[in-house]
Amino acid sequence: MLTALVTGGAGFIGANFILLSRKNQWLNVINLDKLTYASNLENLAELQGDRNYHFVQGDIGNVELVSYLLNKYQPDAIINFAAESHVDRSIFSPQIFIQTNVVGTFNLLEAARFYLQKLSPQKQQKFRFLHVSTDEVYGSLQLHESAFREDTAYAPNSPYSASKAAADHFVRAYYHTYGLPTLTTNSSNNYGMRQFPEKLIPLTILNALDCKSLPIYGDGKNIRDWLYVIDHCEAIYLVLQNGKLGENYNIGGLNEQTNLTVVKKICAIIDELAPKSNFCHSSLITFVPDRPGHDRRYAIDCSKIRRDLGWHPQENFDSGLRKTVQWYLDNSDWVNQVRSGAYVNWLQQNYGNRNAK
Ligand code: NAD
Ligand code: TYD
Repeated sequence: MLTALVTGGAGFIGANFILLSRKNQWLNVINLDKLTYASNLENLAELQGDRNYHFVQGDIGNVELVSYLLNKYQPDAIINFAAESHVDRSIFSPQIFIQTNVVGTFNLLEAARFYLQKLSPQKQQKFRFLHVSTDEVYGSLQLHESAFREDTAYAPNSPYSASKAAADHFVRAYYHTYGLPTLTTNSSNNYGMRQFPEKLIPLTILNALDCKSLPIYGDGKNIRDWLYVIDHCEAIYLVLQNGKLGENYNIGGLNEQTNLTVVKKICAIIDELAPKSNFCHSSLITFVPDRPGHDRRYAIDCSKIRRDLGWHPQENFDSGLRKTVQWYLDNSDWVNQVRSGAYVNWLQQNYGNRNAK
């Protein structure tokens, strides 16, 4: 079995990826995570005692630490999930996005480059640097425009997407300049269990369960292409195994929905799974002033990964959403822990001055 240094593995997608990697015996894992507000080691509690899983708290930007871990564990791959990942936070505080997503990724690439030079030719042949990116680097689509392809020009519009785009460019440059065996995945919006409730779907679920208002930015007609997190993890593993070096792979859910539709679907599921007499959770929907620079539509053309690697999304949106709501209902300890002081402060910062329209 291969060994991977997985970064950002205490966050939403990274944790799901590590759990699947261990359950399916895909990989031995060293998880390097700084443990920011978005992380939760509870996500990985079930791996306690697993001899093929190690956790290290630290920053991807710390070349000394990363080099030490690479030399110690001699991994066959680095899979880089670590990032600041929330657009709204990038609008309030862009600097940390540059620090982690751009400088951090650059330092990780440097450590990987030095490590690669020291490996035997056989190990060099096998080594992969897989960088997890987003469809947001491609910018915004109008309704009539065709979905993002791997050759769509980058046109980021938020500090978050600009920082991810910059990181992607460095990954590309390290392939062409230094021959680092890189792979980049650009996925659409993920949803599923263990997502921090600052993003639309978990925020809506938790607010609805608490009968708090459900904030919809602008007219609610912005479109996202929702991908179930497990489908995403399976795609990443396939790209790691069989992806062509130096290339990007778009990963999407083939599932475009307006925000308003998503929120109404969640409300209908909660009406059924956690009913309150004579109450429709959709009555909590509140239109609030828009996010600045709000991208109108994302859509992914994932025909390349389907054609070349045989992947396509398995989960159906209605059943995926139902499973997700059920997970938050079943995991009240996780939810209560996450709703700590820092989270409350964020709600005040982002929503405090967005009075209903
Ligand atoms: P997340 O915010 O839930 O988790 C990020 C993790 O990275 C956290 O555990 C955090 O502690 C860690 N981290 C942050 N800065 C770090 C640093 N300097 N060093 C080490 N660890 C650090 O994010 P997510 O939703 O799981 O996203 C994972 C990756 O996937 C990100 O790169 C993101 O850009 C990308 N992505 C996310 C989505 C989505 O819908 N969530 C979609 C496409 C791509
Ligand atoms: P989000 O989950 O933040 O992901 P991203 O901005 O990376 O796509 O938001 C998804 C969509 O939902 C986006 O169009 C913004 C919108 N949104 C709201 O309308 N209300 C909210 O409270 C949040 C967090 C997002």
